[in-house]
Amino acid sequence: MDIKVTESAPAKPSNACLVIPLHAGKKLHGTAADVNKRSGNALTRALKRGDASSDAGKTLMLHEVDGVNAERLLVVGAGEANKMGRADFRRYCTALADSVNQCGATAIVVQLDSSLFVVDEEAAWHAQTLAIVLVESQYEFTLHSKQKTSAKRLKKCTLVVDKKQARACTAAAKTGQAIANGQAYARDLGNLAPNICTPTYLAKQAQALAKSTPKLTAKILTEAQMEKLGMGAFLSVSRGSRQEGRLICMEYRGSGKKTKPTVLLGKGVTFDTGGISIKPSASMDEMKFDMCGAASVFGAMRAITELLPKCDVVGVVAAAENMPDGDASRPGDVVTTMSGQTVEILNTDAEGRLVLCDSLTYVERYKPAAVIDVATLTGACVVALGKVTTAIMSNDDNLADTLYKAGQTTGDLAWQLPLWDEYQSQLDSNFADMGNIGGSPAGAITAGCFLSRFAKAYKWAHLDIAGVAWKSGGEKGATGRPVPLLMEYVLNNA
Ligand code: BES
Ligand code: MN
Ligand code: ZN
Repeated sequence: MDIKVTESAPAKPSNACLVIPLHAGKKLHGTAADVNKRSGNALTRALKRGDASSDAGKTLMLHEVDGVNAERLLVVGAGEANKMGRADFRRYCTALADSVNQCGATAIVVQLDSSLFVVDEEAAWHAQTLAIVLVESQYEFTLHSKQKTSAKRLKKCTLVVDKKQARACTAAAKTGQAIANGQAYARDLGNLAPNICTPTYLAKQAQALAKSTPKLTAKILTEAQMEKLGMGAFLSVSRGSRQEGRLICMEYRGSGKKTKPTVLLGKGVTFDTGGISIKPSASMDEMKFDMCGAASVFGAMRAITELLPKCDVVGVVAAAENMPDGDASRPGDVVTTMSGQTVEILNTDAEGRLVLCDSLTYVERYKPAAVIDVATLTGACVVALGKVTTAIMSNDDNLADTLYKAGQTTGDLAWQLPLWDEYQSQLDSNFADMGNIGGSPAGAITAGCFLSRFAKAYKWAHLDIAGVAWKSGGEKGATGRPVPLLMEYVLNNA
């Protein structure tokens, strides 16, 4: 979709829908007052009839309104003028997108009236949010079926803003669009079938991304190379699969100064059967989504290659498949990690932490400013925070707080769990330096505790996205979260 920011509505929109806010109170504001006047009070009459409402997210579609040059007029409830909070504005955008996608319009003209902002400085945030929601609403997964070609019609969006906001909003809309494109890419990778989306497939994606800009280079480590590095935990997972594991490194240098990079590390288990500690069959297909952490790293790197921000970011993906096999790891096996610490594999289904721990040691070589790992790590995280909230665990409260705020800004919600030393003893093993599971109490936290033992060399945060990465049931599919949160974090550092 093409998004443009202008200071006045286009004179001759074609097959379009004009979108305006309707605020509470007797007096109409901004564009609504304007349109009402030009249409001979079409809006006040609709209000009187009870058809229009100013409740945030209520919509009314009108057709061929006098004085409106677009074929359609969409009136969206926006609560009290200059009082709308961020969550309500997101609802406003979602409602707008839903209505527009149901009509035949190929273009929309959205009035970003200043009555939608609490303070004028927020205009850019509104433009970015609207761009993300609109582009996101166009997503369809079409890669596995010829019949599923896109039914979405919207091609063009014009955001009409105040002259003094035009510049900031233009940049913000572009940012929003790149974030949404990155998120769509993450969803595609997540939704792809696990027989196609294998570790080698993901490695090829990295090489393709690197072709789009000289600022990004891709380096792929094979199992033989990981063997030489002593990544015994990582290899203990992929040894049970015919698919070879890969450690995929995408190095983006945008600062021009070789600053300490931010490292984004994604769990890329392309299918998780549980291994010898095999999972029950019901819903096992959903374990193709066990690479959604990796997908979000790919999504962020894709947005970065579109925006080319002035910062350094390394995206690393630990890609492996967890299968039961004659050569698979057994419960009770002891492996030596790249860090030298030994791990007793008490449950082969706790494989995410095994591929991640060696990757955490590997990324020390980048001398990172911070490392953020993203992983569909524990069912316990879903129990704790549901499908709404990403869990943040960190060895640095400032970093955790920054990530929390990035979630608040983008609506890609996240909340910190404690990583206190009191939990560490749950990982004690009688036979090795640690076990790979901590028992059922606080399962998300003990998984974080396990990772923390490999992340002592730098500031680090772990995002458990087991709840938020995909939806089940009728809406089954990847969400592309937490690409918006990651991008908010990355761009604030640029
Ligand atoms: N990929 C799963 C976590 C998961 C489970 C995500 C369900 C989303 C929904 C992970 O590899 C796993 O199997 N974790 C185990 C850990 C346990 C054995 C300590 C779990 O959560 O059951
Ligand atoms: Mn597992
Ligand atoms: Zn897993």
